[in-house]
Amino acid sequence: MKRVYFDNSATTRVDDSAIEVMNIYHSELYGNPSSLHSMGVDAEKAVEKSREIIARRLGVFKTEIYFTSGGSEGNNLLIKGAVEKGKRRGNRIITTKIEHPSVLELFKEYEQKGMDVVFLDVDKNGILNMDQLAESLSEDTILVSVMMVNNEIGSIQDMQSIGRLIKKISPKALYHSDCVQAFGKVEINPNDSKIDMLTLSAHKMHGPKGVGCVHIKKGVSVPAFIKGGGQEQSLRAGTENVAGIAGFGAVAESFDIVKSSNHFEELKKRFIERASETMLDIAINSPLDESFVPNILSISFKDVKAEILLHSLEKQGIFVSTGSACSSKKNTASHVLKAAGIAKDYIEGTLRISFSKYNTVEEVVYCVDKIKSEVEKIRRFTRRK
Ligand SMILES: Cc1ncc(COP(=O)(O)O)c(C=O)c1O
Repeated sequence: MKRVYFDNSATTRVDDSAIEVMNIYHSELYGNPSSLHSMGVDAEKAVEKSREIIARRLGVFKTEIYFTSGGSEGNNLLIKGAVEKGKRRGNRIITTKIEHPSVLELFKEYEQKGMDVVFLDVDKNGILNMDQLAESLSEDTILVSVMMVNNEIGSIQDMQSIGRLIKKISPKALYHSDCVQAFGKVEINPNDSKIDMLTLSAHKMHGPKGVGCVHIKKGVSVPAFIKGGGQEQSLRAGTENVAGIAGFGAVAESFDIVKSSNHFEELKKRFIERASETMLDIAINSPLDESFVPNILSISFKDVKAEILLHSLEKQGIFVSTGSACSSKKNTASHVLKAAGIAKDYIEGTLRISFSKYNTVEEVVYCVDKIKSEVEKIRRFTRRK
């Protein structure tokens, strides 16, 4: 059976270029970067090469990049570090209602511990409310965390305007951004956007799982997250995941945002057109416009349980997601779709289709046609009642 993988916001196929380089560091140049001999030096060179590539992509210094085990660790390291560092100066921390759980859960915990936590609203496009942000910023604010691209609907925040506002009203507050879904999809410019710290992960962009990095602007310091042998400038000890880091560097070097965006736009356009022409009672939550990345399509089907649809598509070789991979197992309505005000009778029937450069128009046509027939079958049952 043919396999159509449309769950690329959950994770992606690893590029051959990354596999090739990873194999070398697994089986030939497998030294420990801390070793003094030449095998150690070779491994260290691989780590430093990736650091340089990523720094260049972000337009920052390579000493501002620290490798981690991925996005969740990066968000934890930066947010916990910023709160620890800033807690004597202030008690307010601000984020949005649509963050990834690795951000949201921390903020909820801090709220329970008595911190003054603001969860900003978003509009129907998932864009945060700037007036509310301006009202929430205070002298007491120590951290603002805003994701650049949302993982469920693909909304893109205006990082520059947010950064300007934060630095104008609360210049001492640190500005953090979870850029896990943004890297390789949109330009990230921490300096122009006044971002102090950001998080990346390799497996969302054809790199390996279990590796990522954070950027921390020169002059900003956060306490050590893992203490030990002093690796990663003593911020995050532990022998480096050399092969993974080398694989991350390989994919960070080769992405082409313009080329892939054109491809994604074509796929998204064809999907939306074909679905809208052939199906009734559907809602497109992330249309093809500049508020959203073109690789993510959130689409809802009235009177359909998305989980049933997902499993019936799986039987036809099509892999999609309901909401996000991380929250879909919890079986609770998506906090992102709720925050974006999607009607209740549509939320339950929402699929997230997410494309990669490996997907084709032919797969889009195949998928929409299968969705149409499966939705009809499900509705025949649900609408009979
Ligand atoms: C926006 C966002 N942040 C953070 C993460 C966590 O990244 P990782 O899987 O590397 O821990 C994800 C992954 O789902 C994500 O989509």
